[in-house]
Amino acid sequence: MNANHKHQGALFDLDGVLVDTAHYHFLAWKKIASKLDYDLKREDNEQLKGVSRIDSLKKILSLAGKTIEAPLFGQLLEQKNEDYLNAVKQITPADLLPGVREALEFLKERNIKIGLGSASKNALIIFDRLQITHYFKALIDGNSVQHSKPHPEVFLKGAQALGLTPADCVVFEDSQAGITAAKTGGMTAVALGEPFLFTDMDYCYPNFNVLNLELLPILF
Ligand code: BG6
Ligand code: MG
Repeated sequence: MNANHKHQGALFDLDGVLVDTAHYHFLAWKKIASKLDYDLKREDNEQLKGVSRIDSLKKILSLAGKTIEAPLFGQLLEQKNEDYLNAVKQITPADLLPGVREALEFLKERNIKIGLGSASKNALIIFDRLQITHYFKALIDGNSVQHSKPHPEVFLKGAQALGLTPADCVVFEDSQAGITAAKTGGMTAVALGEPFLFTDMDYCYPNFNVLNLELLPILF
């Protein structure tokens, strides 16, 4: 266990960790699923968290027991992203999840290097809306990686971009795919959400409010 030492870097997932865009992803996929005559449930959505757009549609097709031709596959991907981008237009800095700004400030004050490790190709659009880019020294998103979480590439590239070893980094994640990616990559993994949703994490907290008080002073 590499969790009991002071770390030099923090790698944040975006959707569901910094802002509640996981909900918008879910609503947009639910609409696509209904076109495939499938009622996408919240439980199904856990399997989509942290997973790339293409792999998410593949999972929905397998849940729906459907196969489709390439042109329709492409159209559905486009439609989903259009709906998602429409929904996130309304995001403002006030939508940062509770305690996130305080966590970023805590880390900044201690000169901890902060990076993004997200599967989303829309990450920079969301960062602009949230106005948090200045906190981040490295931005690794869905445009910078070959492999989707649970592959560790996104966090390994994040650690490298911060100039740190994986063991020096803490990952904050709301998906099992992301926790697996962090642990496979050799980082300390902090899960945000209900403990029953995760295996193999080093710590689990419901949100940053409690985590900031109890965990940040231990990890950094
Ligand atoms: C992840 C989300 O952060 O990004 C997934 O958890 C999403 O739900 C993935 O599918 C890809 O996002 P985007 O914005 O490139 O479609
Ligand atoms: Mg997430």
